Amino acid sequence: MKNIMVTGGCGFIGSNFIRYLLSAPDFKEDMRIINADKLTYAGNKESLADIPGRFPGQYVFVYGDICDKGTMEKIVDDYDIDTMCHFAAESHVDRSIVEPDTFVQTNVVGTFNLLEIFRRRKDRMVLFHHVSTDEVFGSLGKFDYFRETTPYNPSSPYSASKASSDHLVRAYVHTYAIPATLSNCSNNYGPYQYPEKLIPLMILNAYTGKKLPVYGKGLNIRDWLYVKDHCRGIWEIMNRGKRGETYNIGGDCEKKNIDVVCMICDILDGMEPLKSGQPRRELINFVDDKKLRPGHDFRYAIDFSKIQVELGWAPEESFETGLEKTIRWYLKNPEWVNLVQKKCSEWLQRHYNQVT
Ligand code: NAD
Ligand code: TYD
Repeated sequence: MKNIMVTGGCGFIGSNFIRYLLSAPDFKEDMRIINADKLTYAGNKESLADIPGRFPGQYVFVYGDICDKGTMEKIVDDYDIDTMCHFAAESHVDRSIVEPDTFVQTNVVGTFNLLEIFRRRKDRMVLFHHVSTDEVFGSLGKFDYFRETTPYNPSSPYSASKASSDHLVRAYVHTYAIPATLSNCSNNYGPYQYPEKLIPLMILNAYTGKKLPVYGKGLNIRDWLYVKDHCRGIWEIMNRGKRGETYNIGGDCEKKNIDVVCMICDILDGMEPLKSGQPRRELINFVDDKKLRPGHDFRYAIDFSKIQVELGWAPEESFETGLEKTIRWYLKNPEWVNLVQKKCSEWLQRHYNQVT
């Protein structure tokens, strides 16, 4: 791996991955990252503002849409790409319910374009790593875990589009013998996440004393992983994972949404109480998830024993320390927050006429 094209590197996980890689001891001096991103509302060059100056020879940003095959081909040839790490996607379930079209375009057609470009240059390609989600498996009841062998059963247009892209990657492995690896990861949290997702939305609303829109009764369960642990897992797979294989990545950290929101409220109250003295838990508002998120998956939980046994990966950050770090990061970065909130202020306000 020398010239690594990272798609979607200005998004939440992509930008954390680029930061992780550039500081990783095994990221050698002759390696280079080419970040290809369309800069949607979720993609911000500001998330990597310090990087070009700090790593002038090792990092390049190139504007580009993965749905535009010609532009992608040009990037691959201009920069002599030998490795692709594919993050670019439309990633928010709620948006996929309102406007599924872009999800099919970017997540399915965009991935297909990259695979085509990759296979036509197979002789000089080293690896295609596809970053995916545990949501492709659908919803769990109270027991059991998602394993690599769990049948796909996606519920939302988002998860269906990611499932399609996973199938395409596997089909290219079987049919064209391309060297590819896949990872299916649980919910991430950490710095630079667009504040429409549960954790950053709740941090920012709670900090400023706004209502906290909890879907249903907040009993749905997610398995949380600190983003840096995810990035480390991806890099392990890229370096040492078996070609053609899929690895599940998870946090061993199942939490009900309501418990996550209450933790955020309590940490913030401890750091900086509201001027009114009101406990932030009183800001919680239960909203109708049948309207906002029809088909809301009940529970996700990952069995990550394969990556643990084969590659020695396990999460390192605890939820308590990771959440506190994340809260401090959002409070310390109001410029970034204002900038990204401005992009979609209407969307971020959409819950307030849905109070049950
Ligand atoms: P994000 O929405 O924060 O970022 C997506 C990035 O992709 C943005 O920089 C955006 O500009 C870019 N992008 C979107 N459409 C594009 C296009 N057509 N061409 C080029 N760039 C485009 O997403 P994220 O949360 O960082 O997720 C990254 C990947 O990880 C996705 O594939 C997602 O499915 C997967 N994933 C996310 C989570 C999670 O909890 N966030 C968990 C597991 C897997
Ligand atoms: P989200 O962060 O959108 O991730 P995903 O749907 O991909 O798991 O949502 C996480 C959980 O939080 C999910 O059960 C829906 C719930 N949720 C709320 O209760 N309120 C909110 O404002 C949001 C965005 C999510």
